[in-house]
Amino acid sequence: MTVARTEPLRTRAVEGLPADFVWGAATSAYQIEGAVAEDGRTPSIWDTFSHTPGAVANGDHGDAACDHYHRMPEDVALLADLGLDAYRFSLSWPRIQPGGKGPANARGLAFYDRLVDELLARDITPWVTLYHWDLPQELEDEGGWPVRDTAHRFAEYAGIAADALGDRVTHWITLNEPYCSAMLGYYVGVHAPGRRHFPDFTKAAHHLLLGHGLAAEQVRARAARPAEVGITVNPVVAQPFSDAPEDVEAARRADALGTRLYLDPLVHGRYPEDLLADLAPHRAEPPVQDGDLRTIAAPLDFLGVNYYFRDVVRPGDEPRGYRSVPQTDRPSTAMPWEIYPQGLTDLLVRISREYPGLPLYITENGAAFDDTRAAVDATGQIQDPERIAFLAEHLQAIGRARGAGADVRGYFCWSLMDNFEWAYGYAKRFGLVHVDYATQRRTPKASAEWLRDTAAACRQQ
Ligand code: NOJ
Repeated sequence: MTVARTEPLRTRAVEGLPADFVWGAATSAYQIEGAVAEDGRTPSIWDTFSHTPGAVANGDHGDAACDHYHRMPEDVALLADLGLDAYRFSLSWPRIQPGGKGPANARGLAFYDRLVDELLARDITPWVTLYHWDLPQELEDEGGWPVRDTAHRFAEYAGIAADALGDRVTHWITLNEPYCSAMLGYYVGVHAPGRRHFPDFTKAAHHLLLGHGLAAEQVRARAARPAEVGITVNPVVAQPFSDAPEDVEAARRADALGTRLYLDPLVHGRYPEDLLADLAPHRAEPPVQDGDLRTIAAPLDFLGVNYYFRDVVRPGDEPRGYRSVPQTDRPSTAMPWEIYPQGLTDLLVRISREYPGLPLYITENGAAFDDTRAAVDATGQIQDPERIAFLAEHLQAIGRARGAGADVRGYFCWSLMDNFEWAYGYAKRFGLVHVDYATQRRTPKASAEWLRDTAAACRQQ
């Protein structure tokens, strides 16, 4: 069920968000850049996957995307108009190190050099994500993330990026949502590379985590300025369908695979015992070698948290042992994902208790709605009251989490502009700014202005 909420929302400060809260927007390379064959870039697994018939809705792919590669200054100007403090974007590995091995590609690096300079000139802090799902295809051909060497290749690339940008970039995110790379890419198969093998999923998860640890070492050692290094996770907010023991057990399974598989090794330096017991009958234990967990658990400077919806679960088939139950009678976005802001409060409070001592940043939160240019009003703005309501409710949820002791320091809205929404293609629009893909015209939505004014109001409180 989607709800139309048309009542105007007054812009005011959000309770609990302090004056020094960081306000930002986020994107990723493959979703916006286009220019996939320019300046020496080689294909990533998403180029291959999106050109595979049937893999992406409508046959969409990222060949042109938002053409950000050619329109970057215009897009940074949009960010500046939004009055944001920070911009989270990702580097394209196959642009910087074509094929995933060997020397840096100066022409690819030059683009990010210019982007970083452009941001700094406008007083916007760059937050760089090293890996937002675009593994060089050659490395997938050699086995991909289920193969240990990929973690070492990733660290080498991270070192190249730190050498080139570490004199200006101070905030680094190694991986975006390793859950999606591993689970959706190697078991469910709805993301690149589209494989469906359960033990490959846990191998991939372990090597992603190892790659994180090795890359963090490289960035810390090689960036010319002191680097804050973190990782972005998307914990599964699993809730049992009922109090029945089998539903509670299903929620435990989902939580182990979706949340603790990542956060326990990252923060506590061990995989959860119950998870290992679940994996054993499937011969899917993570392939841990001596020293791996120490590398993975090197202290984080911050934890990035992405949150969109909760997962209500019941028992399901092995090997996962749970399945999601769509909440069709509840308000939802166009995905359709349930709108459940309290899940964000609960998640942040839980993380701050079970994984204490980490500064937290919401590195993604936002919503797809069916914004069309038909909704342009006399001022030329696209009216998106549902998105404004969504953002307001989630920011309030963060304020409540802070009130309960969670150390949340910033919020990045997904996304700066409409873009390539992976397996859903261009049909799902998450942007604060509307993109007309035929003309590449950008039109700010009302939510963009609302976020700008809300941030300004919070800065003054
Ligand atoms: C998470 C991913 O990091 C991002 O790439 C994606 O577009 C959003 N969620 C929305 O699904």
